[in-house]
Amino acid sequence: MGLLSQQTTVTQVVIVVGFLLLLSVFAHVAKQILFKNPNEPPVVFSWFPFFGSTVIYGMDPPAFFHANRAKYGDIFTFILLGKKTTVYVGPKGNDFILNGKIKDVNAEEIYSVLTTPVFGKDVVYDCPNSKLMEQKKFMKVALTTQAFQSYVPIIADEVSSYFKKNPLFKSQSGIVNIGPIMAQLTIFTASHSLQGKEVRNKFDESLADLYHDLDMGFSAVNFVLHWAPLPWNNKRDHAQRTIAKIYMDTIKERRAAGQTNSQDMMWHLMNSTYKNGTPVPDHEVAHMMIALLMAGQHSSSSTSSWIMLYLAARPDIMEELYREQVEALGADLPPLTYEDLAKLPLNQAVIKETLRLNAPIHSIMRKVKQPMPVPGTKYVVPANQTLLAAAGVSASDPQYFPEPDLWEPHRWDKESPIAPRIPRSDPEKDETIDYGYGLVSKGSMSPYLPFGAGRHRCIGEHFANAQLQTITAMIVRMFKFRNPDGSNKVIGTDYVSLFSRPLEPANVYWEKREKIA
Ligand code: HEM
Repeated sequence: MGLLSQQTTVTQVVIVVGFLLLLSVFAHVAKQILFKNPNEPPVVFSWFPFFGSTVIYGMDPPAFFHANRAKYGDIFTFILLGKKTTVYVGPKGNDFILNGKIKDVNAEEIYSVLTTPVFGKDVVYDCPNSKLMEQKKFMKVALTTQAFQSYVPIIADEVSSYFKKNPLFKSQSGIVNIGPIMAQLTIFTASHSLQGKEVRNKFDESLADLYHDLDMGFSAVNFVLHWAPLPWNNKRDHAQRTIAKIYMDTIKERRAAGQTNSQDMMWHLMNSTYKNGTPVPDHEVAHMMIALLMAGQHSSSSTSSWIMLYLAARPDIMEELYREQVEALGADLPPLTYEDLAKLPLNQAVIKETLRLNAPIHSIMRKVKQPMPVPGTKYVVPANQTLLAAAGVSASDPQYFPEPDLWEPHRWDKESPIAPRIPRSDPEKDETIDYGYGLVSKGSMSPYLPFGAGRHRCIGEHFANAQLQTITAMIVRMFKFRNPDGSNKVIGTDYVSLFSRPLEPANVYWEKREKIA
């Protein structure tokens, strides 16, 4: 075949493909204009089939929700990688999705492809929901007041020894990219308190790199490519096997040593039994250990980074936090205890306010199992679609939070002119419910749900609060922060990974209050 005819064939193929693409765009647009179903929520207009609004949603999900809410109201549908996804924002939407019945909505069919290769078999989303509820109960009952009393000093010691040892903090002042620092502090404090000293010590050796490889399994692209023999998936699988073995070996050593006095989660799970009489097998304890650390790591490390960035933008609040500790605990600032945390309301409000504006989980998804009529509307959400709850939308709604974009921890003071206007729940209604892991507030009408609601609600809330409050209080004792340019600006959000976090480098200027030995 001559060169000329080869070129002609290529041109013909390009023309045919271009024509087909144009045709599919035309058909996609025509379908949206001509075949609107009045009994389904309005569909966000898009030009391209399959991709729909994927790119615009992925670039900035909260902006996407706000813009479309203004256009279509609280409930609308968009196309996310070929899947019709119905967003329902506001307290009613949160209740509809998060408190949805098990026969109507399902989490594991969405999340399992991503989580099972990372956590391992037979736990969380790789088992029936009733088993997850039992697993959550085991985890929740381990988090007793006594456990927290032991955790706070462990976390406080980890924070002070981290800054003493880290060469980046050798001098009296400097500039640091805060994200990686908070990620390390989170994993050291969580592993030591929840999993014990022997596991924590392994983070100085092999575990940090292995967890990093495991983390690669959580990239958004793995919703589609979780199965593919790609380099990052091979590393993920190797890391999962190796970490699980490290935990299982530790469990065997503990059993052999007959250790009984530990307050950590691993010890508690090793001694838990399912309702049917089966003790939790070692591989499930190991996999739950991975799940707990991974669930907490992204959310707490992102939140603590935001806290530090807000304090750098508001050095006045950092000073108030320091004075709060001096006044409540004494000028010598004695070792921090769990009881002390309750005496520091501004310290608590800083965490609450940061989670209001920067909750790390911006989208919570469920698969619809059977057609779901939306109460008070003519809409029915068809089976097999995805439902998406975005509790952050109501947390930044001026109806509930005056001056919603302002980070102001004092709004949580009782007399604040910008105090949250959260509707009081109806005492006639049963506002608490037990899904199998203890009584939880239904949270139905609350516009503030950074820890979710319903059967999949976070069981790590109290741990995360204790961890974040302790880390913040300890850093306030040691440092003064400000923005390197002295401004009160805060960096934008990175939505590329599944959990949103500050863009990097997120630089903070730090100065020691006094020489750390
Ligand atoms: C579930 C947020 C820290 C363990 C959730 C959910 C949210 C959330 C929104 C609900 C997800 C859904 O409905 O699909 C957060 C935030 C945290 C945090 C904002 C920190 C600031 C932690 C920590 C742990 C943890 C430290 C472990 C110690 C879990 C578990 C679930 C969960 C086990 C249950 C998943 C399910 O039932 O499907 N979290 N979390 N979280 N979280 Fe957290």
